[in-house]
Amino acid sequence: MNLVIVGTQWGDEGKGKIIDFLAKDADIVVRYQGGNNAGHTVVLNGKKFILHLIPSGILHPGKKCIIGNGVVIDPEYLLEEIDYLKKNGISLNNRLIISENANVIFPYHRLLDKLSEAESKKGKIGTTTRGIGPSYADKSGRLGIRMIDLLDKEILLEKLEKNLKIKNFIIEKYYNDKPFNKKKLLEDYLSYGNKLRNYIKNTSVLINNAVKSKKNILFEGAQGTMLDVDFGTYPYVTSSNTIAAGACTGTGIPPTFINKVIGVAKAYITRVGAGPFPTELPEESNRFLRDKGNEYGSTTGRPRRCGWFDAVVVRHSKMINGIESLAITKLDVLTGLKEINICIGYKYKNKILKEFPNDLRILKELQPIYKRVDGWLEDISNLKKYDSLPDNTKRYLEQITKLTGLKISIISLGSDREQTLVLDKGIWKL
Ligand code: GDP
Ligand code: IMO
Ligand code: MG
Repeated sequence: MNLVIVGTQWGDEGKGKIIDFLAKDADIVVRYQGGNNAGHTVVLNGKKFILHLIPSGILHPGKKCIIGNGVVIDPEYLLEEIDYLKKNGISLNNRLIISENANVIFPYHRLLDKLSEAESKKGKIGTTTRGIGPSYADKSGRLGIRMIDLLDKEILLEKLEKNLKIKNFIIEKYYNDKPFNKKKLLEDYLSYGNKLRNYIKNTSVLINNAVKSKKNILFEGAQGTMLDVDFGTYPYVTSSNTIAAGACTGTGIPPTFINKVIGVAKAYITRVGAGPFPTELPEESNRFLRDKGNEYGSTTGRPRRCGWFDAVVVRHSKMINGIESLAITKLDVLTGLKEINICIGYKYKNKILKEFPNDLRILKELQPIYKRVDGWLEDISNLKKYDSLPDNTKRYLEQITKLTGLKISIISLGSDREQTLVLDKGIWKL
């Protein structure tokens, strides 16, 4: 069974927690896009792990974790994450596998990311400055250096020379910054390649063999649908296809083999970085959600912008991803609110919009139309059954289902693995 988990909003929906939860029944967990711009949090017995590159299934002993070809890898950072897990007693032997085709992030990607952000005053995207965009640009421009290239000195040198000629020119002449030294980069990256050598494999063959043997494979999306480079709020997006289709291009599994897509949605919405966000609350009123939900970026620590659940966004995600059901997270954070709003559509001039518009000018001017739902005061974070939820909580969830056209298969009531209600016992069944 091949199950894709995808973010339905602007990222940080709690994908890490849901992946970790579902990973107990999976054989393999695969990351298919993004890089260490992602920050996926898994809480195990009160201990918090934030994973940026390694799949969130790694805390389950024995499960194989693959970093697919669609991911961009900063090897210096990856080695740190491997170290961090080992120090915490997590064995990676024969469990972590890295695609030889995954593109590599170099320090010039990180610098160019920073310089381009610093330069653009008005159009700042608010990237994580991890070098993600410049690295994907090189991949599309056929200049990219892949993980397999780190294993051969001649090839790496040739590709680095070609890249540095252009990068150093831009860095020095356009940005007036310091160029990179070829010798140092070559040494560093050969050494990373050497340290990672045993993990680097042809992962598309491994994945397709696992599909043939009917293994349970979990495809872990990073970021969210609204950050997708094609279907998000372009150009305020990341540089990869975050949507379910990315699982195919990012791993080599054919589209006809994807069995199910589950969308992860926060019970409200957050966004880090710049760009349109129709249901965003003004600073003074978003404090409740930010403080209670601890809404600070897992990667950069930046405060997240917060707003009401937007059914238009989730309907857009449903359409693009072919979502079968929703995992609703952070429902506990809404406890204590007298009233909760759900956005059902947008008003623009004299029109009612039911679809998410692509035009940034429309996005700037539209007004969300809200349906008001009564809140609840009871602590729900340790409830073990759906039936025990307060009536108003159930009504809120019913509204989400009605407005998005999606049933809810999982409800998360806290960051710990245990704080999870499963409404659909057949998640791993076709
Ligand atoms: P991801 O990027 O989608 O994996 O999400 P992040 O890990 O960046 O952000 C989600 C945050 O919410 C993390 O700190 C999680 O530990 C936390 N979290 C996940 N699910 C729940 C939940 O149901 N309730 C609460 N209170 N926190 C949650
Ligand atoms: P997870 O997987 C939330 C945002 C950045 C910025 C934009 C582009 O934890 O949900 P980039 O560095 O990718 O070029 O930045 O995308 N962004 C995320 N926002 N969660 C993430 O990942 C994100 N990864 C990137 O804040 O607005
Ligand atoms: Mg995150």
